[in-house]
Amino acid sequence: MSGWKIPLITPEVDDQDARAVYDVVLAGDVAVGREQEHFERIVTDITGAKFGVSLSSGTAALHLALLALDVGPGDEVIVPDLTYIASANPVRYVGAAPVLVDIKPDDGNVDVDILNDFIEERVRRNYILPKAIIAVHVLGEPCDMEKLLAISKNYGIPIIEDAAQSFGATYGAGKLAYKATGSIGKFGVLSFSGNNIVTTGGGGMLLTNDGALASKVRHLSTQGKLANNNFDHNVVGYNYRLSNIAATLGIVQAKKLSAFIKAKRLIYYRYRENLELISNIRMIAINPINNGSCWLSTAVFQDKKTRIKVEASLRSNGIECSTLWTPIHKQAPYIEAPFVGAGVSVDLAERSLSLPSSTSLRESEQKEVIDTIISTLVHI
Ligand SMILES: Cc1ncc(COP(=O)(O)O)c(C=O)c1O
Repeated sequence: MSGWKIPLITPEVDDQDARAVYDVVLAGDVAVGREQEHFERIVTDITGAKFGVSLSSGTAALHLALLALDVGPGDEVIVPDLTYIASANPVRYVGAAPVLVDIKPDDGNVDVDILNDFIEERVRRNYILPKAIIAVHVLGEPCDMEKLLAISKNYGIPIIEDAAQSFGATYGAGKLAYKATGSIGKFGVLSFSGNNIVTTGGGGMLLTNDGALASKVRHLSTQGKLANNNFDHNVVGYNYRLSNIAATLGIVQAKKLSAFIKAKRLIYYRYRENLELISNIRMIAINPINNGSCWLSTAVFQDKKTRIKVEASLRSNGIECSTLWTPIHKQAPYIEAPFVGAGVSVDLAERSLSLPSSTSLRESEQKEVIDTIISTLVHI
């Protein structure tokens, strides 16, 4: 229990989920079992990716994607500047350096034009190119994968899609119509942590359409153990496999994904209808053509001072809310990392506030959030 009258995001776990886990625990299939493969199949059916390797976290999935692409010391990797820090940390795990690229003010996703200019400039100067691009679908909103794929093709730079916040989101038009986030790049990363749309209590999955890469990742995720039953290992691997208990929860949760997304989208639209009536307040945009997951509804205020006032007022009324992430280039481990852009990430992060977005949020609770925001703004 969070202790908040209205929490920011709580997982929606019910009796059916608990019973499934109970049964698998009693059967003794806690670490390894049929449910792992079953869960992978459900997720690949949903996303359309050919292969899915279930892992202990989304961070582990990013780490293994970078290793599988042979990213290492001396390499650079593009990472958007406004995202959860887990998008950047695995770049450092493999000894590579992130290049942080600014974002767009409307939806908070990476500014592909800035990214493209950066790469073109590198080409003009005959400098080394980034070894990979981590494309994040921030807050569940699909980023501009069509343009990113063109860059990837032009310069031979693979894309790792960080779809941790956008499981189930799809493109609605153009070349990528009906394709799900995470199924398009060389790799796609999902997270099933406690606040993600489908939870396994902690877990992730790496998606790919390349069978050889999928095998490489699975091998790395199980300590690099060879299949000869002799405890022989041919590489330094990792203990990154998802437990069978977690996979069991994932199966029941994933079956509810479309209902969860429907609920999240309804929440987003209700905030937008009500809050955008007030001048100088807007929601972080979604592209109406696509089907974003609306994982976390986030409002943008006219300035930082207003955001701070609304934040304090919500909290004092028992309503949990959260600022967006501090831009990566402003965080201690990345202060020296190159940042490309004018600082849209800083401005958006200062003025934004994420609002309660649990799939189980009741309409009356959402009304209370909206009323609290409006009455705070009226008294400023
Ligand atoms: C954008 C993004 N990338 C990566 C991760 C890491 O996932 P995990 O917490 O499962 O390691 C998260 C977590 O939600 C995330 O939001």
